[in-house]
Amino acid sequence: MSETIEPHTFIILGGTGDLARRKLLPAVYRLTRQDMLDRWCILGVARGEDMDDESYRAWVREALVDAGFDQEELAAWCDRCLYYQPSGSGVEGWKSIAARIDALEQEHELPQNRAFYLALPPKVFSTAVTGMGAAGLNKSRGWTRVVFEKPFGQDLASAQDLNRAVHEVFDETQIYRIDHYLGKETVQNLLVFRFANPIFEALWNRERVEHIQITVSEDLGVGTRAGYYDQSGALRDMVQNHLTQLMTLIAMEIPVRYDADFVRNEKVKVLRSIRPLDLDNVVFGQYTAGRIGGEEVRGYQDAPGVADNSINPTYVALKLEVANWRWAGVPFYLRTGKRLPRRQTEIAVTFRQPPVPLFANMRFGNVEPDVLLLTLQPDEGFSLLIDVKRPGQPPSIDKLPLTFQYDQAYEPLQDAYVTLLHDLLEGDQTLFVHAHEVEAAWELYTPLLAQRFPLHKYAAGSEGPLASDKMLARSGHVWRPI
Ligand code: BG6
Repeated sequence: MSETIEPHTFIILGGTGDLARRKLLPAVYRLTRQDMLDRWCILGVARGEDMDDESYRAWVREALVDAGFDQEELAAWCDRCLYYQPSGSGVEGWKSIAARIDALEQEHELPQNRAFYLALPPKVFSTAVTGMGAAGLNKSRGWTRVVFEKPFGQDLASAQDLNRAVHEVFDETQIYRIDHYLGKETVQNLLVFRFANPIFEALWNRERVEHIQITVSEDLGVGTRAGYYDQSGALRDMVQNHLTQLMTLIAMEIPVRYDADFVRNEKVKVLRSIRPLDLDNVVFGQYTAGRIGGEEVRGYQDAPGVADNSINPTYVALKLEVANWRWAGVPFYLRTGKRLPRRQTEIAVTFRQPPVPLFANMRFGNVEPDVLLLTLQPDEGFSLLIDVKRPGQPPSIDKLPLTFQYDQAYEPLQDAYVTLLHDLLEGDQTLFVHAHEVEAAWELYTPLLAQRFPLHKYAAGSEGPLASDKMLARSGHVWRPI
């Protein structure tokens, strides 16, 4: 039985939606079993679905079977899932939800510990939260926590408005903004790697590091998500959140303690140290038809639901500078794109060359810089690429890896949502995004949203637009191959 997760009710607002079906229910199922939770309920709340507890349970069961779980083992678990369709609209509707939760807690003898997961379209976040406040759902005799999926705002002004609306009802200690990258084991390991292995700390600065590349490449295209994606694009969808989070974890100072306030404060400081983006150091791209893994794929503009002649970017590359004492002058290159050759999330830290090239005058040939490669997915692990003398004559040097791979040491890694829901139910906000972080990130990128940039086309399956290579070449760098 979990010693850290108290009995609670997990309320999914949008309880019959795609997020609930694909991500939340499988994650809660895993979590309740793995942590052996014994006193909990799920309340799925939705409008417009004519369901009762029984038909909701059948729907949940189907979702879990689709996710690969065993039908037999599910039956008893599903009995803890309840359904509610609010009666009335506006505040009346929220009050009816509050009454349903009260009744459920009494019936199941649960304390008033409540996690509300807003699995709703972002445009209704603000009104939902206001309604919750008006119905008194922001407080209880136990704990009340509220979870927001990304995107949290569309730009700085909308993120600030949303934060204001949410803070009228909940205080920051109750608010859990999800960035699912923070739940990935390999992303959490960035902190362990840096702060539990002090040998790297001596290398982690402008004296030793030459530049850093952060790549999140995807082979998938927009799929069936054009309705959302064509309004968002790669900058909002990936850079403002996932890539920027990775960057802050790499660049942050050592927190005084490993806890939510200290860790998140250090991340905010990084964001606030980044120089305003130089518009010459940003490249936007969009994929055209091409081939991936031997298959023909269509271009972005031909994907279902994408506007004709859409100028929405599916690729972004940029160069940032963290202008603080540790990093000033070290380029941080970020890139992400859809329909690149493969799915890969990688951070490459390239170290400086020796000040005097000892071997250059001999016959060793070119000595390449050392690189630390942190591979976050799919081949999770890391490699330190260092120089080794090849045995024999003539003398030559090879770049060889010192390697660690998760799959050789551990069981398969668990889904990020399981980790994040666990932390939510424990009340640990370290892996959730603070209001200051979300606003600082939007502050950085919002000026780009107002500009018209050239949109560089790249063929699906290629490594992105040429303009992106040229941007690095101006500083004497090249992207690592994808
Ligand atoms: C989501 C984006 O946040 O992250 C998607 O909206 C993207 O467009 C996805 O495909 C990538 O996540 P992962 O975990 O597959 O790297």
